[in-house]
Amino acid sequence: MQAIVLVGGEGTRLRPLTYGTPKPMVPIMNAPFLARTLERLHAAGIDDVILPAGYMPQAITEYFGDGSQLGMKITYVIEDVPLGTAGAVKNVEEYIRGPFFVLNGDVLTSLNLREMIAYHEEKKGLGALHLIKVEDPSAFGCVVHGENGRISNFVEKPKREEAPTDEINAGTYLLERAVLDMIPTGRNVSIERETFPKILAEGNALYAYTTDDYWIDVGRPQQYLDAHRHILSGEMPLQLEPGLTGQGNVQGMIIAPVHMDGDVLIEPGAEVGPNVVLGEGCRVGSGAKICDSVLWDHVIVGKGAQIEGAIIASGSSVGDGARVGRGTVVGHDMVIEANAVLAPGSRVGPVAPLAQAP
Ligand code: GTP
Repeated sequence: MQAIVLVGGEGTRLRPLTYGTPKPMVPIMNAPFLARTLERLHAAGIDDVILPAGYMPQAITEYFGDGSQLGMKITYVIEDVPLGTAGAVKNVEEYIRGPFFVLNGDVLTSLNLREMIAYHEEKKGLGALHLIKVEDPSAFGCVVHGENGRISNFVEKPKREEAPTDEINAGTYLLERAVLDMIPTGRNVSIERETFPKILAEGNALYAYTTDDYWIDVGRPQQYLDAHRHILSGEMPLQLEPGLTGQGNVQGMIIAPVHMDGDVLIEPGAEVGPNVVLGEGCRVGSGAKICDSVLWDHVIVGKGAQIEGAIIASGSSVGDGARVGRGTVVGHDMVIEANAVLAPGSRVGPVAPLAQAP
């Protein structure tokens, strides 16, 4: 079995984080998100992975190389212009030998891929789509199906009161190779909006694989923070101990759950937690308070600063006594002045992608 992981999106909703780091490399518990997805594929015995990329691809290729360190084979196919979620799949056609998975690159889930393979083999459709139930489907693609699982309709982002179902497309598909023949070449094609409806219109069968797994799309700041909270509490099973405090030099107070990498310094009188992740080399000054936040590598927090519900990218600093309000997102290498007050929901960052090494 092979898998295509879609990693070519610009990640506009995570800006300014994605001006310096492409979305698949955004860290989840201090490791690139894509590493988590590849670990999951490897655990399911799927080691032949194709990555259609386009936005800041060097960051991905340099980190994962040919995949051999993970015991996997990774093939990169770089798009000059974004081809969309189906166009990207069509573009890697030459590498696909049989049935294959397509994974949306920003979904964090506990889905068991082996069980999904067994379901698809039993149903014998042209494909199986992973669905999950959500309270409010209005921001997602609803998928309507009969009792035997056969899909009858797709409804994109319905009004909440008009939603035909609470089951949504969860971004993992297992498809027969014949699907590739149904995707046009050379232009941007959406798998959700164009290819799946076309498969149904031509009388072919797609089946719904609905599970109650943990599932979250980490492509938005709040969901990114939620995902960390869920991992820290153990709600999302990731191979980490909840409440882990790591090996930092902790002279202040930790309110679990907190996760940190090596070489972290928390000065006396500082208070970190709950629900905080600190990347490598972070420094938290005395009297500072941080809760419900994710700080990437080498973030410096000044004395008496207060950070609540924020994401702060690598190399940034928060000055002494500054206050960072809930929902704030700070890009790479930013300097927040001493005593600055950032209102909830602030965005601090460059206005365009950072230059990349050639
Ligand atoms: P937003 O700009 O915030 O919507 O993020 P995005 O650009 O990543 O789009 P979206 O979250 O809808 O994409 C879903 C998945 O498909 C992500 O894993 C993207 O990386 C991927 N993706 C989206 N468009 C393309 C594309 O044109 N080519 C490739 N290769 N991947 C894509």
